[in-house]
Amino acid sequence: MRLEFAALGLLAEGLANAASTFSPARPPSIPLAVRAPYLNSWLNVGSDGGNGGYLAGENSWARFWNQQITGWVGLVRVDGTAYTWMGAPEVQPQVVDQTEFSYTSTRSTFIMNVAGKISMNITFMSPVTPDDLKRQSLTFSYLDVAVQSIDGSTHDVEVYADVSGEWASGDTAAVIQWDYGTADGVAYHSFARQDQAELTEINQQASWGTWYWSTSNNYPALTYQSGADNDLRNLFVSNGKLSNTKDTNFRAVNDNWPVFAFCNGLGPVGSNAVSTVFSLGLTQDNAISFLGEGSGLTTVPSLWKSYFSNDIDAVTFFYNDYGDAFGLATALDNKIASDSLAAAGQDYLVITTLSVRQTFGALQFTGTDSAPLVFLKEISSNSDIQTVDVIFPAMPLILYTNPKVLAYLLDPLFLNQENGHYPNTNAIHDLGTFPVAKGYPDGSDEPQPLEECGNMIIMALAYAQRAADTEYLNKHYPILKQWAGYLVDEALIPANQISTDDFAGPLSNQTNLALKGIIGLRAMSEIAKLTGNSGDEKTYGDTATSYVSQWQNLGINSAANPPHTTLSYGDGASHGLLYNLYSNSLLNFGDFVPQSVYDIQSAFYPTVADEYGIPLDTRHTWTKTDWMLFCAAIASTDTRDKIIKLVANWINVTPTNKAFTDLYDAVTGDYPSGLSFTARPVVGGHFALLALP
Ligand SMILES: *[C@@H]1O[C@H](CO)[C@@H](O)[C@H](O)[C@H]1NC(C)=O
Ligand SMILES: *[C@@H]1O[C@H](CO)[C@@H](O)[C@H](O)[C@H]1NC(C)=O
Repeated sequence: MRLEFAALGLLAEGLANAASTFSPARPPSIPLAVRAPYLNSWLNVGSDGGNGGYLAGENSWARFWNQQITGWVGLVRVDGTAYTWMGAPEVQPQVVDQTEFSYTSTRSTFIMNVAGKISMNITFMSPVTPDDLKRQSLTFSYLDVAVQSIDGSTHDVEVYADVSGEWASGDTAAVIQWDYGTADGVAYHSFARQDQAELTEINQQASWGTWYWSTSNNYPALTYQSGADNDLRNLFVSNGKLSNTKDTNFRAVNDNWPVFAFCNGLGPVGSNAVSTVFSLGLTQDNAISFLGEGSGLTTVPSLWKSYFSNDIDAVTFFYNDYGDAFGLATALDNKIASDSLAAAGQDYLVITTLSVRQTFGALQFTGTDSAPLVFLKEISSNSDIQTVDVIFPAMPLILYTNPKVLAYLLDPLFLNQENGHYPNTNAIHDLGTFPVAKGYPDGSDEPQPLEECGNMIIMALAYAQRAADTEYLNKHYPILKQWAGYLVDEALIPANQISTDDFAGPLSNQTNLALKGIIGLRAMSEIAKLTGNSGDEKTYGDTATSYVSQWQNLGINSAANPPHTTLSYGDGASHGLLYNLYSNSLLNFGDFVPQSVYDIQSAFYPTVADEYGIPLDTRHTWTKTDWMLFCAAIASTDTRDKIIKLVANWINVTPTNKAFTDLYDAVTGDYPSGLSFTARPVVGGHFALLALP
């Protein structure tokens, strides 16, 4: 049985509980297991459809980013009385009292008070280790349930948790099969679609691969069971243990909802905290279909296959690695927290800390140890694969954590175009629809020619500067030069076209888009210099210098009070976020674009602020968090802090309920009508301050 809401009586009891605190903010959505495009489940929070941030009770199902329920239920018994600590199951004993929620870059932690007798710390940890590819390659996440007595007495405690077949298929009518086993101290349930449809999706969920839900086989009183959801939960509520049996009736996900359960009997628990650790994740041998080298599509393996000989080795490594993974996660959390505080204070930490799992959760690590390829899913807006103008805004977090990952993201784009699979002289927009990167041999991609030529050249240089990898620039010099040629022809007077903000529509002479192209030419001059092509260095440098001075005349309304850049040339009343100026600072180009342009924009932005942000441009009241942070990173301290404060406040109060939307209405704080972006990796752009040289 599947109920989205608790029965009314139980609900009333839940509401009687004390309200939770939220720290460092109450996010629009709470990451639970967010690690890769297919392991991407959240708790809806904002009032558009969320429950305010409560792990158990009404409307608290974990949901895949695309909103399908991914069944995940937690129950606990204390001295024989059962309580619910996660999910909204039909069999729902009284809900524990959630008192605190907090998040770090890798963790979401809920603190529960159970009848004044015990407290529970429930931590969802999704590791982020971009400089440790072996660990990063694993599509798994941890759940740690720690309990301790808080009333001075000891209490008998049993912890129960199950997951449903919903993780394994976006179609709940699909038949799944399952198994149970133990290896290397780990007990695991495995489950998978019977009909494995490799490299296909339904409702954005993978239709291939095997899911593993694991815990320690060394827990002395561990029991397990697979079976119908209500049967298992009722058994736990009445007995405090499971029957160590497997349901043998393989069936559809929604046919008496098969769930996979563990129960850990802890015995008497005193004031020392006792943890039960679980892990959940997915193994897929193959990850992506790709048109790169050669003339046809090739199948790219998952990167974990380079490090592990089979599923079980990967599953047990991940589970047994919890201690080290926890240490690495804590180190990253602390580094991001202290760097964010030092850069711009607590409001900035609210923003950066919420952006890390979401960004890496859109990346699929594939290929081999010696030639990794990272594929990005443009989650929620088309599901394009390898969208260049989505990699671009995500870039600051990538550069901050491991610049090499930027090369692994750009490599598929270079491979596709350098092998002759794209006929246009400009850079491609994306490689197709995830997980099939078949490119556009007929050149029919979404046309953003100026945007993507600028992006590719800027990103190639940003990577090469950070990684001191001039060889990378040599290797790709011919195609970079081809794209620079496009910029010479098209950057100064941009034709009628869309920019990356395609939802805002096409426009001629976009001031901000032109600046991207011009900085792209300056970047090509630098690339020519680094690779010893001094003729090109001078030609592109001279063109860029000439263009940037003409651009100031065309794109700045100097007569306005205060002056500002326009949205498009000649439209003096128009304005917009000049976020492409950020690249001038990122690439260390000094006064190539003069400081006066920075100063003009710093003085101007606060004069057009709406309640929840600075509008993206004068066509709508919409704004974008990634572009606001690009602007903040290079603004005066005062303006920087104002923008950051607007975004941090919005996080706390927005009614949006799905994973951090980068696009919202700056007047209402809600989704623009018809556009609910969610879980997009562009939030990596919030690290704009921390990626500057
Ligand atoms: C939960 O975390 C708090 C610190 O935030 C700690 O004081 C407490 O002991 C922890 N409780 C358990 C059960 O781990
Ligand atoms: C774009 O700007 C240039 C330079 O001001 C101008 O000559 C041209 O007419 C503009 N194009 C459009 C379509 O407005």
